[in-house]
Amino acid sequence: MPAMHGFSYKNGSLSCEDVQLSALAEEYGTPLYVYSAGTIVDHFQRLDKAMEGVDHEVAYAVKANSNLSVLRLLATHGAGFDIVSGGELFRVIKAGGDPAHCTFAGVGKTREEIVYALEQGIYSFNVESEEELRYLNQVAGELNLIAPAAVRVNPNVDAKTHKYISTGKSENKFGVDFEAISGLYARAAAELPNIKLRGLQMHIGSQLTSIAPFIEAVEKVIPLVLELKAKYGIEFWSIGGGIGIIYKDSLESGSVDWWAAQPEEERPLTIERYGKELVPRLKDLGLKILLEPGRYIVGNAGVLITKCLYEKKGSAKTFKIVDAGMNDLIRPALYEGHHEIVPLNEPASAERVKVDVVGPICESGDFFCQDRELPDFNPGDHIALMSAGAYGFAMASNYNSRPLPAEILVEGGTATVIRKRQTLEDVIAGEL
Ligand code: LLP
Repeated sequence: MPAMHGFSYKNGSLSCEDVQLSALAEEYGTPLYVYSAGTIVDHFQRLDKAMEGVDHEVAYAVKANSNLSVLRLLATHGAGFDIVSGGELFRVIKAGGDPAHCTFAGVGKTREEIVYALEQGIYSFNVESEEELRYLNQVAGELNLIAPAAVRVNPNVDAKTHKYISTGKSENKFGVDFEAISGLYARAAAELPNIKLRGLQMHIGSQLTSIAPFIEAVEKVIPLVLELKAKYGIEFWSIGGGIGIIYKDSLESGSVDWWAAQPEEERPLTIERYGKELVPRLKDLGLKILLEPGRYIVGNAGVLITKCLYEKKGSAKTFKIVDAGMNDLIRPALYEGHHEIVPLNEPASAERVKVDVVGPICESGDFFCQDRELPDFNPGDHIALMSAGAYGFAMASNYNSRPLPAEILVEGGTATVIRKRQTLEDVIAGEL
């Protein structure tokens, strides 16, 4: 079964749960991010259920969408959190999350971040080099504290995803080589009194749509993790995040019919399959298994609504110029990311026009699609960029001095502003 999401046409109007998106666009303006709370919770719970039979914890990767209300929603449903900065820890705490259920990843933790996380009592520092582990030991020593730590192993498997989001090969900057882990744990146990070796971590990449690389990595690392458990009594193994979502046909793909119509070998990875393959391999290790999904939880739970400003017919192409830009959603520019584009008003006919949908930013990379066949829409009409809940707002910037968009969380028939649109004053706040 595919991952369901809360977006569909109801009476000809694209809706998030029971709220019409056009009404939100009218009331709050555009560009506008809208998230479905039901979808977020559903995805979290389905992953949790898929891992049944294994002692596990889902540590949501905050980087994917770090709005306080999203974090609060997940904390309420029992999520832990995978953070990559002091700022993300601050957010988790503000949202009512428990630092004791936080893991702290990243190759470049600063002293300030380490001190803050130690003081807050996080569950584990996921360390990415021997140098960092030694520094962590030193800082913890100065504070008279013990730092719980896991080293990130780089299993050198090919995640078969976009090169910018592939992390599990030896040429990536992430983690410590598989072959070097045993020696590093031995030195840490002998020489680093302020480190408690609590686990092992890995993460091979993001937006993985087949199960094979996950299986390959897990099977490769099992003997290592068992060795570390026997020697140092480690208690957890984080197998990372990376579960991919469906970006193409994202409206139809919410339906079971769409799913059934796909040739079996082309059906994207489901969470049920993920669980079915991994649970038997993980359940008897005697370790707590951590998962760090970001995109899977929030990706299909959000859209970016934008308004068409102009249609520009060039000699070679037709451009639909919209009021969202690459500063609001950078995925197409940065990863050639595909986001389905659908009008808020259900198209009356099956007719399609070939267009580029572009933003107002002064860069050629500022596009949402190129030469794509879309239902026609006109200046003044609204469209939705689908599957924008993960790495959408979280990667937005003020480039071109554009205010950050507002964010809305929908629960059933209720829409709540969870982040106000920035004003021009907000944009220059803090400058002299
Ligand atoms: N754990 C670690 C250590 C990570 O580096 C990441 C993502 C995750 C977990 C969560 O991965 P996910 O389940 O979301 O795939 N901005 C890019 C994706 C960057 C992913 C970075 N690390 C994009 O928009 O595709």
